Formats: sequence, structure tokens, C-alpha cells
Amino acid sequence: MNPSFQFPADFVWGVAAAGAQIEGAAFCQGKGPSIWDTFCRVPGKVVGGDTLDVACDHFHLFEQDANLMKEMGWTNYRLSIAWPRLYPSGRGALNQAGLDFYSRLIDAFLERGITPWVTLFHWDLPQPLEDENGWLNRDTVDAFASYADTVTRHLGDRVKDWFTVNEIPCFIGLGYEQGIHAPGRTEPKKMVNQGYHHALLAHGRAVEIVRANVSDSRVGLVHNPVTPIPVIETEEHIEAARQNYERVNGPLMQPIFQGSYPAWFMDSPDAPEVTDGDLSTIAQPCDFLGLNLYAGYFVRAESPLEAMPFPSQFPLGDLPWLKVTPQTLYWQIRMAREVYSAQSFYVTENGSAFADEVTPAGEVLDLERREFLRNYLLSLHRASAEGFDVRGFFAWSVMDNFEWAEGYAKRFGLIHVDFETQKRTPKLSAHWFSAVCRENRVV
Ligand code: NOJ
Repeated sequence: MNPSFQFPADFVWGVAAAGAQIEGAAFCQGKGPSIWDTFCRVPGKVVGGDTLDVACDHFHLFEQDANLMKEMGWTNYRLSIAWPRLYPSGRGALNQAGLDFYSRLIDAFLERGITPWVTLFHWDLPQPLEDENGWLNRDTVDAFASYADTVTRHLGDRVKDWFTVNEIPCFIGLGYEQGIHAPGRTEPKKMVNQGYHHALLAHGRAVEIVRANVSDSRVGLVHNPVTPIPVIETEEHIEAARQNYERVNGPLMQPIFQGSYPAWFMDSPDAPEVTDGDLSTIAQPCDFLGLNLYAGYFVRAESPLEAMPFPSQFPLGDLPWLKVTPQTLYWQIRMAREVYSAQSFYVTENGSAFADEVTPAGEVLDLERREFLRNYLLSLHRASAEGFDVRGFFAWSVMDNFEWAEGYAKRFGLIHVDFETQKRTPKLSAHWFSAVCRENRVV
């Protein structure tokens, strides 16, 4: 008998993190301040007044961390480069020490048989660019393009797999509209939409740059489209989910996949200004779509455009938005394919925070996280078994880290971090995930 829930032979299993969330060394060796270094110093913005100053001290401990990942049998690592480590002012003079750090880090992982998958922008905008209006200023796109050019020229001999920008809805929506993430602004919709447009442009420019600078490269966006799940799997409810998917995700998915904005969006008084040529830059064909997926919501035929309310006892992770909805993985992939003809996918993040405790014996028996990931993977397996081109899965996160506005209080790691001592302890879920990677199936 064949073992159950086997994935295709070339399926990529990996773990993920982002520079700002784990590196620490926020002001070491010439690194400039990012908008998050500024934001976490504004009283009340980050839980516990936590800062990124030390984090997991991965900046100093990366060799030890690479050893541990190797021991765990993890062979792919999604990481991000901190733009202000290379360009403290965002543009202009290069901080060579910053570039050298990433070069050593990439080598350390490669030497241990771990393939680095590099995200160019994971939210840590250099503060001096924010001082010039950040992502709402079109010049930021040019600054990003020169930074991306430097990174890909210097690391492209060793790094072949690239992600452009991470979760546009968060770094624009939460940062410039809701104000709950850095830079903490609450701007009118029209300005925010201009920010979205610039972020899309930055993605498109980065695709061109990776292709020009890196031979044999693969490149794509990391996006977090919303996931409507049909409440009953019959055609009328599935059709409702399609309508919901298109309406909510259209302003970002349509430019990426069809090179145009939805008509209703452009007809609104809040439409962004679009310059000739922008949309063809944005719609550059990519090698895949990277998907960060945590939670979906249910819809039904009676009211396709409305998310159904969650009952108060619906299962949750350690944050109110972490609704346990494993079907998110299947339905997101199916909807992206059916509505926008997206062809190939990586799940670039999936996981959950839970209030982990270390037992007196020094273990972390995080059965909730193991169960969470296992159920989500079963749903991913369904997508793969039905023929969707799902190429890989990266667990978020390799280790507990700085969870943005939640500080260090919310733990997403497979590896537990004691932030006092920097001791790493692989949780039960880490050992389980190692078996999944080894056997290439849901165990
Ligand atoms: C998405 C982000 O990319 C990552 O930085 C964050 O920590 C996780 N979601 C969990 O919220």
C-alpha cells in the first residue's frame, strides 16, 4: 500500500522568517533605522514596549541557527534582507558591512545544504525614506529598485529563488490606512491606494531586476489574498466564494494577473494615479505566486459579498484573527487558479501563534500547533492531489520572534526561543515537521 498524503517528488519543504523579526543588531555595523525601529519607540504602539534591538540575535547567532536547522533536517529557508542594513539612508551610499553580512549568512546556509529563498522587502523600510513620505511617494519605488539591483547583483550567483515584496495589504493597509503597523499613519483612501499602486510597481520592477541580474532565477510575489470558503461545497456556494474572491482581491490580483485594475475601482474617486507603462510593469509574468495563508472566512450563496460572522466559540490561535480554518489552503489555491488563472504556487507562510509553555523537563509540547499545521497540510494535499501546481510549503516561523505590533508575546515558532538567554528549543511541532519533510507526506 502507498503511504497516505504523499506530495510530489520535487515538493519543497521549508521554514520561514524575516530579517527584522529575528536579526536584532538593529544599530550594529552601520545599519540605519527602519520604520519599525522608530514605531516601536512610540509609546503604546508595540505590546510591552518591545523593540527589534536584540530579537533572536540571529545577526550574531546565525551559524548556530543554521546548525540547528541542519540537525532538524530542514533544507529550505525563506529569509529577508534588511534594506536599511545595506542602505542606511534608503539610497545613495552602500553600507558594505551590511552586504558582507548577508553574503556570509547565505554561505553559511549553503554550506550546510540549506537553500536560501530571499525576500527583498519584508516591511523594514528605511526611516529616511519614510521621512520623504515612504510608500506614498513614487520615488520610493526607484530607491527600492536600486537596492534590489545591488542585492541581486551580489547574491545572485548563489541565490536563485527570489520573492519581491511581502504582503502588500499589510505594509500598506495596516501601515498607512489603519495605523496599527509602522509607520502608523491613517491616511485617506486615495493616498492609501496610491501606496498600493507603488508597492505593486516595486514588485514589477524587482521581477525585471531579478531576471536581468540572476541567471537561472525564479521570482514571484508573496501575497496574502483573502480566502472565502464556500460554507457548503456545492456549486451555488462555490460560485458565491468566487464572486467574493474577485471583489475583495481584485484591486491587487487583477493588475498582477491581467494588467488592469477593476473598472469599479478606477471609477471611484479614490482611484490611484497610474502612469503609462505601469500596468505592464506590474503584470510581468512571474514563476509562481507565493501565498501567506493563515485564516479564511465562510461565505454563502444567500449573500456572496458578505463574510459570515464567526460564532464566539469558533476555534482560534493566540490572536483574534487566527481562526482555525484549514480549508483556507485548498480554497485559496483553487480560487486564484479559477478566478485569475494563477498557475503555480508556493505556500510561503502558514502557522499559528499559541501560548507555549516549557515543561519542567524542558520540552514544548505544542499539540495545538502540530494539529493546526497538520490539518492545513491535509487541505494543501487535497489541492495538490486535484492537480493544482503546488510546489512547496514554508512553515511560519522557524523560531519565535518579534511579531510586529504584538512584540515577543505571540509565539509562532517551530523552535522556542527564550528571549532572556537566547536558548533555542525545538518544539514538538518542529520534530513533527521534520518527519513531514523527511517523508514528503503528512505524517
Ligand atoms: C505575515 C508576515 O509576513 C509575518 O511577518 C508575520 O509574522 C506573520 N504573518 C504572522 O502574523
